[in-house]
Amino acid sequence: LVIQGSLFTPVSPTEFTFLRQALVCIDSTGTIARIVRATDTDYSDVQQTAQRLDHLWQLPHNQYILPGFIDLHVHAPQWPQAGLALDRPLDQWLNTYTFPLEAKFADTTYATKVYHHLVHELLRNGTTTAMYFGTLHLDANLALARQCAQQGQRGFIGQLAMDNPDQTPATYRQTSSQEALQTTERFIVQLQCLAKTTGAALTPVITPRFVPSCTVETLRGLGGLAHRNDLPIQSHCSESNWEEQYAELTYHQRDAAVLDQFQLLTPRSVMAHGTQLNADDLTLFADRQTTVAHCPISNCYFGNAVFPVQQALNHQVNVGLGSDLSGGFTPSLYRNLQQAVMSSQQLQDGVDAQVAPAQRGRGTGRISATTAFYLATKGGAKGLNLQTGQLRAGFAADLQIVTDRLGTLMPNDAHSVFERLMYQTTPAEIATVFVRGRQVIG
Ligand code: GUN
Ligand code: FE
Repeated sequence: LVIQGSLFTPVSPTEFTFLRQALVCIDSTGTIARIVRATDTDYSDVQQTAQRLDHLWQLPHNQYILPGFIDLHVHAPQWPQAGLALDRPLDQWLNTYTFPLEAKFADTTYATKVYHHLVHELLRNGTTTAMYFGTLHLDANLALARQCAQQGQRGFIGQLAMDNPDQTPATYRQTSSQEALQTTERFIVQLQCLAKTTGAALTPVITPRFVPSCTVETLRGLGGLAHRNDLPIQSHCSESNWEEQYAELTYHQRDAAVLDQFQLLTPRSVMAHGTQLNADDLTLFADRQTTVAHCPISNCYFGNAVFPVQQALNHQVNVGLGSDLSGGFTPSLYRNLQQAVMSSQQLQDGVDAQVAPAQRGRGTGRISATTAFYLATKGGAKGLNLQTGQLRAGFAADLQIVTDRLGTLMPNDAHSVFERLMYQTTPAEIATVFVRGRQVIG
């Protein structure tokens, strides 16, 4: 397949590349074999050959090709309650609403119904790769994996571990560390088997919910398991005042240091939120090459602070984007990248007019739509060690084709089009989505 159209692809947090009327050549393995620029000498040859073989797809002039988005933090079972009870503090929201909902995934039929809906919803929003928290239920987690396989989404899936009787309800916890570790081990084997038999892009993830919900034995055991099997890890780190205080009170350490002590901060770790990370914690993240999943919408509700994206990038910490469904209410990474820009502006300028202007805000930290786009694409891919998130030869053909509705009313220079796409795209504007060269939407 050869797609002829204009494209945007990330370069760095401050730069994207725009190519007008390029030819994106996708091979039979679902990889981008080559991107032919309009100035390349064989452009017409490639175009004509593709046309003759009936492999050419010419996009209308108001459509653009972008890399598929990578959502680094989704609680799959929470999709049915997206937008509910977000006025409660995190611990109340977890105990009163979230744990009882997640407990319902003991019913695999219910799980399949929810996950079928969710995977489709993410794909139609342009999310081609997602890193999921599942529940305690191995069968439900495999049902999520089957939905990813059937619908063609790249999935990183975590068998949840939580066994601390002090911080989890009796109705929703593993009864021992041994149970938590053995279920995780069984899940890894079964998911890898499913990946092999279906050919789907599925990866198991070591998933301690967060420090408060796990016992020391489970944190230590999961760190060892990840290390021995070279597996990705996901958890929450320094999400809220409450979480940070728990680590200080229980371990007399920073939350990040507790995770590190158990080998849970690695180059394959993705830690959600990080709103409370201080400069020392950021240095630790940089040393460990651990990625932060920035969840800007969720942080408005539960974070007690804005995650300082720019400061993290200055510390050489890798950052991607997460929806945190349902701490965040939307499956759209567009909505999240918009909020990332908005929150960064409030971090810089401050929010309280009762504070004197000179003392208000941080004075720096504002990010652009270009940075937010980088987080949703290249930053996320880096965190998962994947060749996706960029339109580039040798990378997976994970892409979205998006309509610019306002192009007839405003200038069409690359920067204007880019910002319009970042701010105006909803599922209605996402015409087509490809994962690994397979059309999954449109
Ligand atoms: N911390 C522990 N569990 C959760 C969760 O489900 N959502 C959020 N936002 N934070 C958590
Ligand atoms: Fe979360």
